[in-house]
Amino acid sequence: MNGTKKVVELVGVTKVYPGDVAALRGVDLVIGAGDLVAIVGPSGSGKSTLLHMIGTLDRPTSGTVRIAGYEVGDLTDRELSALRARHLGFVFQQFHLAPGTSALDNVADGLLYSGTPPKARRERAAAALERVGLGHRLGHRPHQMSGGEQQRVAVARAVAGEPPLLLADEPTGNLDSAAGAEVLAVLRDLNASGTTIALITHDAEIAAWAPRRVGVRDGRIVTDERTETAAATPATTAAKPAAKPVAGPGAETVEAAR
Ligand SMILES: Nc1ncnc2c1ncn2[C@@H]1O[C@H](COP(=O)(O)OP(=O)(O)OP(=O)(O)O)[C@@H](O)[C@H]1O
Ligand SMILES: [Mg+2]
Repeated sequence: MNGTKKVVELVGVTKVYPGDVAALRGVDLVIGAGDLVAIVGPSGSGKSTLLHMIGTLDRPTSGTVRIAGYEVGDLTDRELSALRARHLGFVFQQFHLAPGTSALDNVADGLLYSGTPPKARRERAAAALERVGLGHRLGHRPHQMSGGEQQRVAVARAVAGEPPLLLADEPTGNLDSAAGAEVLAVLRDLNASGTTIALITHDAEIAAWAPRRVGVRDGRIVTDERTETAAATPATTAAKPAAKPVAGPGAETVEAAR
């Protein structure tokens, strides 16, 4: 089911922070088009650092990062910004919405660097908010919305430019379980319509919900499991019977080809 196209490819990635903190100690990871990957592991294990590498928010100390086929190390800062604008969407635990600014403008402003003209920015923003179930809240400012609604605005902002890859660091970490479930439902719908998603979570239930789980410990990937059954939201466990045994192309082979 997961295409063989590599959206993300990390080969031998290390990250040493000042103070000699080895946050990543040699990570090989392939994420294929259409994947929905939960990144799990203890606090301090390197999950956010890993997501920053994938998101090209920081450069590795050594190793190779390829996003959508582009080798990040070969790109100038300007080219990197363009790559991020075109290919990547980000959602964080804190919503990072501009206070006093409507949901519509918060989302539209996320398209400022995409080269989209103002009118089209607002149209796309409205469509993205519609998509996350907030078509009736376009004019609301962050303080007039619930936490779950604010996070859905943040998701709308992340996906308004229709990036093929969405990265989320604890997107439900500040939400109660009902609001969290709504955000997860939005992510699931996005994934169903083709967006590749990697999300960090501490929540075992959310991890179990994801069709693929990558476990990180001490800066290394220690597990990489896939569930081939159709995923249900944690709340709705109308689980279908297990899909065909050993289904689909084994896209999980993480190898540094050659
Ligand atoms: N900017 C930085 N400078 C120095 N050390 C850092 C920096 N950022 C992270 N670290 C260290 O790198 C290690 C990995 O941090 P990271 O934020 O990736 O962990 P994490 O798995 O996301 O943890 P959490 O679940 O608590 O968010 C930690 O030991 C952390 O203290
Ligand atoms: Mg973290």
